[in-house]
Amino acid sequence: MHRAVIDHRSAEFAKLGSEVLENLRPIFQTTGPVVIYPSSGTGAWEAAIVNTLSPGDRVLMFETGHFSQLWRQLVERFGIVVDYVPGNWRRGVDTAELASRLASDDRHTYKAVMVVHNETSTGVTSGIAAIRQGMNRSNHPALLMVDTISSLGSIDYRHDEWGVDVTVAGSQKGLMLPPGLSFNAISPKALAANKSATLPRSYWDWQEMLGPNRSGYFPFTPATTLLYGLREALAMLQEEGLQHVFRRHDRHAEATRTAVRSWGLEIVCEEPREYSSSLTAVFMPQGHDADRLRSVILENFDMSLGAGLSKLAGKVFRIGHLGSFNDLMLAGTLSGVEMGLRLAGVPYHAGGVTAALQSLAPIETTASAGR
Ligand SMILES: Cc1ncc(COP(=O)(O)O)c(C=O)c1O
Repeated sequence: MHRAVIDHRSAEFAKLGSEVLENLRPIFQTTGPVVIYPSSGTGAWEAAIVNTLSPGDRVLMFETGHFSQLWRQLVERFGIVVDYVPGNWRRGVDTAELASRLASDDRHTYKAVMVVHNETSTGVTSGIAAIRQGMNRSNHPALLMVDTISSLGSIDYRHDEWGVDVTVAGSQKGLMLPPGLSFNAISPKALAANKSATLPRSYWDWQEMLGPNRSGYFPFTPATTLLYGLREALAMLQEEGLQHVFRRHDRHAEATRTAVRSWGLEIVCEEPREYSSSLTAVFMPQGHDADRLRSVILENFDMSLGAGLSKLAGKVFRIGHLGSFNDLMLAGTLSGVEMGLRLAGVPYHAGGVTAALQSLAPIETTASAGR
């Protein structure tokens, strides 16, 4: 990324623009358009709704954690009516509740179902394929919008196959880039909704983007240096192979959970099918402050763990294991946590790191690797 910025009206830029716009599609597992904004993920949340909805529309959302809460607030500020299904911040979207809400909406007043695929505040994923099946079974025409900010490029996600209409993503997690780019992958149905949606929009308007994008250009000044980085990130993901990337994240998540269980601590996610492969959120034992543990680890080992957010503040710490990350980095991370637990005087059972190492290198793998 540390290179001179080129003229964004030049042929050289068009080559870069076309390449990243094209190579983004397989990461979303779509053949349709993906637009790129120079913004954090919140901008792409806003773009998803101003491009598809009208004031007074009704949408269905699910309380999965801090980020579903923030998205809901943003949506409401645009005069959209949100039916918000309550949740305990330890489970993903309840598909039985989804089915019953859609079934009782026989006049099809819901214009969209909006869900967070991977709740970064809790380490819980929601089953997007099952959500789509539920929508299809009730023959409901609502758009499906999904936030993949902490799952894209880390956890299997299929925009086309799962019938998602707008996928929201950001650069700073699975795409291994600094913050500053966000994305909308757009289905034909969402493009059609764009024609009749009346929420005011200008900068975020997909139509503004899609025209120039066809020849590799952007309507406004693009974040060229981040696009250099994106080109490399996409090449890295392609080189490793998406399936291998997902498998690597699954292994790291499994090893992390093995360590947490060995320490005798509790994982926030209650349902094993919903475990996140990009991060693990962990409850502190009663009477112990997660932020103190985090500061002991930061001071002693220069390692920053994720904080508990809003109602989980002080109660939870989060171990990130996503992006450009390998076995030894995970071993170091878990060692830092185990030493921190000891130094901070938190009650735990020793041996979590050893258990994680065994999970990362089971005997069969070592033997076959040596052959
Ligand atoms: C799942 C999820 N959604 C939305 C956001 C908000 O994105 P940003 O902070 O990039 O605006 C985040 C940020 O971490 C997130 O994890």
